[in-house]
Amino acid sequence: MQAIVLVGGEGTRLRPLTYGTPKPMVPIMGVPFLARTLERLCEAGIRDVILPAGYMPQAIVDYFKDGSQLGMKITYVIEESPLGTAGALKNVEEHITGPFFVLNGDILTSLDLRAMLAEHERLGGIGLLHLIRVDDPSAFGCVVHDEQRRISAFVEKPPRETAPTNEINAGTYLFEREILDMIPAGRPVSIERETFPAVIAAGKGLYAYTTDDYWMDLGKPEQYLAAHRDILAHRMPMLALEPGASGAGAAALREVRRLNLPVHADAEVRVDPTAEIGPNVVLGHGCSIGARAVLRDTILWDDVTVEDGAILEGAIVASGARIGAEARVFEGSVIGHDTAIEPKAVLEAGSRVGATAPITR
Ligand code: GTP
Repeated sequence: MQAIVLVGGEGTRLRPLTYGTPKPMVPIMGVPFLARTLERLCEAGIRDVILPAGYMPQAIVDYFKDGSQLGMKITYVIEESPLGTAGALKNVEEHITGPFFVLNGDILTSLDLRAMLAEHERLGGIGLLHLIRVDDPSAFGCVVHDEQRRISAFVEKPPRETAPTNEINAGTYLFEREILDMIPAGRPVSIERETFPAVIAAGKGLYAYTTDDYWMDLGKPEQYLAAHRDILAHRMPMLALEPGASGAGAAALREVRRLNLPVHADAEVRVDPTAEIGPNVVLGHGCSIGARAVLRDTILWDDVTVEDGAILEGAIVASGARIGAEARVFEGSVIGHDTAIEPKAVLEAGSRVGATAPITR
């Protein structure tokens, strides 16, 4: 069995984080998200993976190399210009030998891939799509199907009142190789907007696989923060965390008097005992937190320095950044790689500060 993980998007909604790190390499609890996805594939016995990439591919290749360290075979196919979510599949056709999984590279889910494969074998058809139910489908692609679970329509981002269903495309697919014949070559093609409607119009059996699994799209900063909250609260069962402060750097938090769990700290973290840390805080490798600093609902990547008295609430801070003394960083702010925030600066809610173009190293 093979899997294609789509990793070629520019991740515009996560800028400036994605000016320094391509979205699949954005860390979740200190580990590149794609590593978590590949682990999941391994656990399901899928060891032959194709990665269609294009945006900052070198960061991905340098980290995973040929995949042998994970016990996998990874084939990279680099797009000169973005081919879209179906064009990327067509472009790797020569490497595909049979039925295959397709995973959007930015979905955190507890979906059982083996169970999905068994369901596809039972139902037959050209493909099976993972769906989940949401309260408000207006930001997603709704999928309409009958009682036999045969899909009849896709409705992109319908107004909430008129949405035909609350079941949405959850970004994991299982296809027969034949679907590639229905994707035009050599130009960008969207799987959601072009290929799925074409498959339905051609009368090929495309089926729905709706589950109640944990599911989160990591495309936006607020979703990235929510995913961390869910992992820390054990709502995302994929990652086993020890109770209390977790991570290789948890010992550095022992002296901190105002520690509000859950908190996760990687190795070589230094935290002044007078700081206030948590809840829902992740400290990446080598972070340093000064006296009286306050961090709540905040994710720091590696080697971030927070100087004395700075306050961060609901922020994401990329590696190498420095938050000056007594600066205040409010809800939803995103600070890019190696960015220095001046002492006493105030970043209003939703601020984005840092590089304005991809960083070349
Ligand atoms: P935004 O720019 O913030 O919308 O993010 P994105 O570029 O990642 O787009 P989106 O979230 O819609 O993409 C869903 C998945 O498809 C992600 O895993 C992307 O990496 C991937 N993807 C999107 N477009 C392409 C493409 O042109 N080629 C390849 N290979 N992958 C793509």
